[in-house]
Amino acid sequence: MSHRFLQACRKQPVDRVPVWMMRQAGRYQPSYRAVREKVSFLELCRSPELITQVTVAPIDELGFDAAILFSDILVALPAMGLDLSFEKGEKGKGDGGPKIGNPVRTRADVHALRVPDPERDLPYVLEGIRSIRRALAGRVPLIGFVGGPFTVASYAVEGGSQGFTRLKTLLWSDPAAAHALFEKLTQAAIVQLEAQVGAGAEAAQVFESWLGELAREDLEVFSFPYLSRIAEAIRRTGVPGIFFSTGTTSHLERLATLGFDVVSVDWRIPIAEARARLRGVAVQGNYDSALLLGPVENAVARAEAMLRAAGTEPGYIFNLGHGIQVGTPPAAVKAVVDVVHAFRST
Ligand code: CP3
Repeated sequence: MSHRFLQACRKQPVDRVPVWMMRQAGRYQPSYRAVREKVSFLELCRSPELITQVTVAPIDELGFDAAILFSDILVALPAMGLDLSFEKGEKGKGDGGPKIGNPVRTRADVHALRVPDPERDLPYVLEGIRSIRRALAGRVPLIGFVGGPFTVASYAVEGGSQGFTRLKTLLWSDPAAAHALFEKLTQAAIVQLEAQVGAGAEAAQVFESWLGELAREDLEVFSFPYLSRIAEAIRRTGVPGIFFSTGTTSHLERLATLGFDVVSVDWRIPIAEARARLRGVAVQGNYDSALLLGPVENAVARAEAMLRAAGTEPGYIFNLGHGIQVGTPPAAVKAVVDVVHAFRST
């Protein structure tokens, strides 16, 4: 049995355009907020029962064509030796950003990082995947994921969501330490993805959200070689690989050569132009998540226009350019999912 999401990843013809949305499980949903009233974000990520519940809820409530494992790109950091917490944000706004108590600042800090053993260190992720597969019962495929080396390094080195200058400075002041850090994060990404697919993940997405911060010459040295290795490792598992980043439309042709089956694009480029520049790979995106906050008639009209512009060539997955924002009305999300499913290209 094949699902339209997996068919689109493989550039095969589909009955309808498949749709899922990054952060489809999150604070915009009343059902998610009810869970978060009882447990912290990390407690939630560490409970196979709760991650099953929040992963499956958007499928039941909104009708997406794929589920994404509920977890975080930073969950492996404690096993690597970093003291991770999620700070409480302003009242009513949920958690603030991630914080690392002992950020990576020196060569010795890099060498002290351990590559995690997913079976030993992240059993709740693997048990969660098995439990989600049982709960989904084949209705839609399950996407596993990891963070890309540059994006995870930005949190590990800066100590939180605090910009990129310390990490960028490390690239140029101590390139050997920077490469050693990316090497460990690449190995960590590969072992996690292999374990996730072993447990039942049916596609693998690499979240390299902040890659747009780097100049092309730095990308070629400090990022692309590592991303190609991760793509190759996903290819060996046999599931489709999806590459996600933002602010990288200057590099699309190069991103198409990394070895991923699907490249996700943000809203800064018209979808037709992105598809024309990404010949050879499937394309995911690129609806502006802020449209979901505005008038719902406009959100629906813009989704229809994007579907028409994406064209009829196989290999297109409707998604956002980045995640669903807090405060998005679930009814707007549902209206857009429904219009994608109703769309006929002829
Ligand atoms: O997309 C999904 O539905 C799957 C679950 C998922 C989460 N985070 C849940 C989450 C995924 C795939 C991620 C990836 C992630 N985590 C990224 C890459 C994607 C992106 O958004 O750029 C990054 C950079 C992180 C790190 C992270 N986690 C930050 C910076 C924050 C705080 C900011 C925020 O959005 O609150 C988190 C917390 C987080 N991860 C939440 C969720 C639902 C909110 C936690 C809560 O309070 O309940």
